[in-house]
Amino acid sequence: MANIYIPYGSVEGQTARIVEYIADLVRAHGHEAETVDLKHSAAGSIPSGQDGVIVAASIHMGKHEGFVADFVRQNRAELERLPSALISVSLAAHGDEQNAEGYVEEFQEQTGWHPAHVGIFAGALLYTQYNFLKRQMMKKIVRDKGSTDLDTSRDYVYTEWDGVKRFTEDFLAGVPAASGQERA
Ligand SMILES: Cc1cc2nc3c(=O)[nH]c(=O)nc-3n(C[C@H](O)[C@H](O)[C@H](O)COP(=O)(O)O)c2cc1C
Repeated sequence: MANIYIPYGSVEGQTARIVEYIADLVRAHGHEAETVDLKHSAAGSIPSGQDGVIVAASIHMGKHEGFVADFVRQNRAELERLPSALISVSLAAHGDEQNAEGYVEEFQEQTGWHPAHVGIFAGALLYTQYNFLKRQMMKKIVRDKGSTDLDTSRDYVYTEWDGVKRFTEDFLAGVPAASGQERA
C-alpha cells in the first residue's frame, strides 16, 4: 500500500474536481490518498511517510497559482526524492496544446522542478459561476479563439476523464510502494 499526497491550487473548482477524481482512483487501487487545497492550508511541507506526490495547479492569466509555485520551491528536494508528478489544468489544453505546454515550461523554469510525469488536462468554462465581468471577459476570449462555446447560461467541461485515469494509473505503476516493489 502506498501513501499518495496531492496538494493543489484551484480557483473555480475544476482542478479540485480532478484531484478528487484522482484520489478516489488511488483509493480504488487500495492505496491512501490525501488531497490538500494549498489556498486554505498553511501546508508548508510534505508530511513524512509519503510514497508519491502529485501537485496540481490551474492557469489564470497565463500563470499557475503563485502559492503552488511557492509550495514547489519550498519542497523541491522532497519532490525530487519521491516519485512526483505535475498536473496543469487550462483551457489551452483543449485545442491549443502549444500554449498549454508553454505554461508548464514556464512553471518549471520558475520553480526549478522538472517532474518526470506531467499531465496537461483541459479544465472547464464555468460561465454560470463567474461574476458578470469574468463572464464577459471569458466569452470574449473564447469568441476570439474562434470557439462557438458562447452560451453563458451553461457550463462547458472539457476535462477528459479517461486521460486523467490513464495518467494516474501510469503514475502509480512508477511508485515502488504502489506496485509491490521495495521502497527506493
Ligand atoms: C479569469 C480567468 C482567466 C483564465 N486565463 C486562462 C489562460 O490565460 N489560459 C488558459 O489556458 N486558460 C485560462 N483560464 C481557464 C482556466 O484555466 C480553466 O477555467 C480551469 O478549468 C480553471 O481551473 P480551476 O477551476 O481549478 O481554477 C482562465 C479562466 C478564468 C476564469
